[in-house]
Amino acid sequence: MAFNLRNRSLLNMQDFAPRDIRFLLDLASELKRAKYAGNEVPRLNGKNVALIFEKTSTRTRCAFEVAVHDQGGHVTYIDSASSQLGRKESLKDTARVLGRLYDGIEYRGFHQSVVEDLATYSHVPVWNGLTDEFHPTQVLADLLTMQEFGEKPLHELSFCYLGDARFNMGNSLLIGGVQMGMDVRIAAPRELWPHDELVAQMRLLAERTGASVTIVEDPHEAVSGVDFVYTDVWVSMGEPVEAWGPRIDLLRPYQVNAALMKATGNPRTRFMHCLPAYHNLDTDTGRMVHEHFGMSELEVSDEVFESDASIVFSQAENRMHTIKAVLVATLA
Ligand code: CP
Ligand code: NVA
Repeated sequence: MAFNLRNRSLLNMQDFAPRDIRFLLDLASELKRAKYAGNEVPRLNGKNVALIFEKTSTRTRCAFEVAVHDQGGHVTYIDSASSQLGRKESLKDTARVLGRLYDGIEYRGFHQSVVEDLATYSHVPVWNGLTDEFHPTQVLADLLTMQEFGEKPLHELSFCYLGDARFNMGNSLLIGGVQMGMDVRIAAPRELWPHDELVAQMRLLAERTGASVTIVEDPHEAVSGVDFVYTDVWVSMGEPVEAWGPRIDLLRPYQVNAALMKATGNPRTRFMHCLPAYHNLDTDTGRMVHEHFGMSELEVSDEVFESDASIVFSQAENRMHTIKAVLVATLA
């Protein structure tokens, strides 16, 4: 049975029920197969989509652009440097203008309240392309990737997220995993655990979906037997550069390296990361951190990142197929 998601916004994973998410994952698989087979049917002809980015992006922007183009629609990229947004025009006014011109709006920025206001005032579907609090389109791609590589239904799979668990990725993976009835584990220092309120809400939801939620400080205990080990950058976009020192002190024991992968006791454990990742000295930030703190690989070692266990580029590809599914389901 297909569920009607037309005109719905995706601001947070919780906007969609578990059955909606399953539908979107099925649709994403179908669209992926159709693209590979060369028989994709364009369902967004004549649709115009605005892409607002108040933070930088490679994957999310490109995934939205390719998804819309594949489906026959058009996009406009808007950033805060080259538009009136923020400095000369309020978000509320911008939303009302864009809502008159576009069929849907993607937004990446800082506060969740902004993407919520955008949805309220534009009256068109709005998709959250990352805020400080949530990154729902990333988690849809991650769930599809886990389904593909796990070779079992999601509710029979486990993952452990390590690192900064109180920001967008930790929050969204917790929600998405619980919605899908998974064995969800988080390993982080207590200061970086998701907010108590979200955890309580998820423990309650887990009773209905059959999920389990384990949040601990010990990384080795957390990853035991797990199907997927997942991490993210230790300092996120929008956080001050001064955050690096204290964050490294807190998160050094949570680096995903060969020893951590071995601690799973499961030779088939896969490594996941939303990307971008600091796994070598090929980035300005990587070199800056190395100069100040002496670490040449941060949240993940280069060995694990480049290993056969790593499925990070499949995740990146799946951003496009899952975003396409969201666009087709909410716009077409
Ligand atoms: N994972 C992700 O959102 O990547 P970008 O920041 O490149 O969009
Ligand atoms: N937590 C990271 C995710 C990047 C996709 C950030 O917000 O920068």
